[in-house]
Amino acid sequence: METIRLGLIGFGCVGQGLYHVLTHTGGIKAEVARICVKNRNKQRSLPAELFTFEAQDLINDPTIKVIVELIDDADAAYDLVVAAMHAGKDVVTANKKMLATHLTDLIALQHQLGVKLLYEASSCGSIPIIRNLEEYYDNELLQRVSGIFNGSSNYILTKVCTEGMDYATALKQAQDLGFAETDPTLDVAGFDALYKLVIIAAHSFGVVVAPEEVFNTGIQALTAYDQAFAAQQGLKLKLQCQVMRLGEDQLTMLVMPAFVKPDNPLFNVEFEYNAVVVQAAFADRQLFMGKGAGGNPTGAAVLSDISALTYGYQYGYKKQQQALKLSYTTQALITIYLGYQDEADLQAFDFWDVTARYQGQDHAYIIGRVKLQDLVKIKDQLLTLPVFMAQMPDTDIEAIQL
Ligand code: HSE
Repeated sequence: METIRLGLIGFGCVGQGLYHVLTHTGGIKAEVARICVKNRNKQRSLPAELFTFEAQDLINDPTIKVIVELIDDADAAYDLVVAAMHAGKDVVTANKKMLATHLTDLIALQHQLGVKLLYEASSCGSIPIIRNLEEYYDNELLQRVSGIFNGSSNYILTKVCTEGMDYATALKQAQDLGFAETDPTLDVAGFDALYKLVIIAAHSFGVVVAPEEVFNTGIQALTAYDQAFAAQQGLKLKLQCQVMRLGEDQLTMLVMPAFVKPDNPLFNVEFEYNAVVVQAAFADRQLFMGKGAGGNPTGAAVLSDISALTYGYQYGYKKQQQALKLSYTTQALITIYLGYQDEADLQAFDFWDVTARYQGQDHAYIIGRVKLQDLVKIKDQLLTLPVFMAQMPDTDIEAIQL
């Protein structure tokens, strides 16, 4: 078998991780032929002749069969991926925002151009979830796929809630360790997790939903009072992603912190680890766990895609082909804890019902059910409100009976 020549675009944390795993694994016949980088002034760990500043040098090189796109900027990544596909290259990418935003186009483009696009590293780092959803669960009736899809926020929650570290130091550590996005708001406000959820939902249920239609909130407004609420009841906080069937022909999805009990499989998933819980009709519940961020674990997932290309693998988008006829809805109720300080901040919320209220000197909370569709409407506003929201333990998302 001939050695595949790779054109690598981006040489940050994941790019370097890929280079490391590729040069330390024996089995795969692939080599990095050229690396395209943006910054001309950075010292590089590899010989200068390997680098270029023009992506076209890679895309136009007929000896390069596979483009591996590992840059930060989702818009630039989309243009490069599309250009590479039009040039007849197979592409491996880890860019979750780019994929979640353009998934329908990118699926169509693969069919139209007869090229392959693989992206296992985009979702949950080293956990091989996309190929499992496509292949292992191809004929399973999935009911719910949920879990922790962001390593940085899980790292911060572990450090803050379990070790008592302050939030800013924990975030700085997540950045220094190469877990966080360049703009860490994407991690802590649940956007990174949202993009991954959109991708995973497409492979679980065959439904591609635009990220802006899905509610996401994160841990950025977490206070010591919210942590105390969890600790007093023996609960932990986890930033949870969920996509699930609602009745026969609908599904819903969201990203929101959740209080979890010790018997919840997410309870012991700590630091940068991610977890995916697949609830299926026949296989029942299964848990995948692994490092969700970091150069080597994510590089390993990229390597696995490159390896899959060597035997002609491509996603079948089987759930889409099966036409499960599920439609996305936000007509659902979720039971939340809402921690706040100022009564005025409650005005954004319209509770369906309230089961508990607490008013202290410096802090208050309210527990009750809210409509998901109302939350979607205020998700931009929530980014600037000093309120912390989390799903209550042992509560389900309920369809609204009209
Ligand atoms: N910033 C991401 C995370 C990196 O923390 O999960 C992996 O996608």
